[in-house]
Amino acid sequence: MKILIVYATTEGQTRRIARFAASRLADRGHGAELLHVADAEDIDWAGVEAAVLAGSLHMGRVQDELAEFAAAHADELNARPTLFLQVSLAAAGTDEDELADIDRIAQAFCDRAGWRPGRIVQVAGAFRFTQYDFFRRWAMRHIAAQKGETIDPGKDREYTDWDALGALFDRWPEAAG
Ligand SMILES: Cc1cc2nc3c(=O)[nH]c(=O)nc-3n(C[C@H](O)[C@H](O)[C@H](O)COP(=O)(O)O)c2cc1C
Repeated sequence: MKILIVYATTEGQTRRIARFAASRLADRGHGAELLHVADAEDIDWAGVEAAVLAGSLHMGRVQDELAEFAAAHADELNARPTLFLQVSLAAAGTDEDELADIDRIAQAFCDRAGWRPGRIVQVAGAFRFTQYDFFRRWAMRHIAAQKGETIDPGKDREYTDWDALGALFDRWPEAAG
């Protein structure tokens, strides 16, 4: 199948996730086209059989560019099997309120765009301390402290479960929900 993957990223983890998805789909013989949302223009939808959109949460919001893309192409997306990957740190935790929040945020993102993905998957992201500016370091220390975690500011920490993602893309889009 020809599968389009469009992603937005702020610190790079969603790019890694989108690349992983593309390579896993390609391993299974699919034709995966990976595009950063800024480059996702002039898409020949006639050749697209399924699509994945991936974006990450910052201050409770997914990137606006991805929201605009989803809204502009809701009709094309709704006519195919589609999957929304929402990357966050809340997805790495077990706090039920936070997990309910990220589900609500993802659903609102899709509703606002008029997009009805077959599946929404919450994916745990990463702390990228080595790439944060002063504000982000401060914000992330604060988030970590709230969770009772101590952060080593010199170190990145990845929570993405690559095995679970691999298992997802071993079945999707054939087992599209
Ligand atoms: C300034 C900032 C704000 C963030 N806000 C949230 C948030 O509201 N909820 C959450 O679960 N994760 C939050 N995160 C964590 C990111 O979603 C996580 O680091 C993710 O891996 C980022 O993906 P990206 O590298 O593709 O942008 C935040 C991270 C930063 C740096």
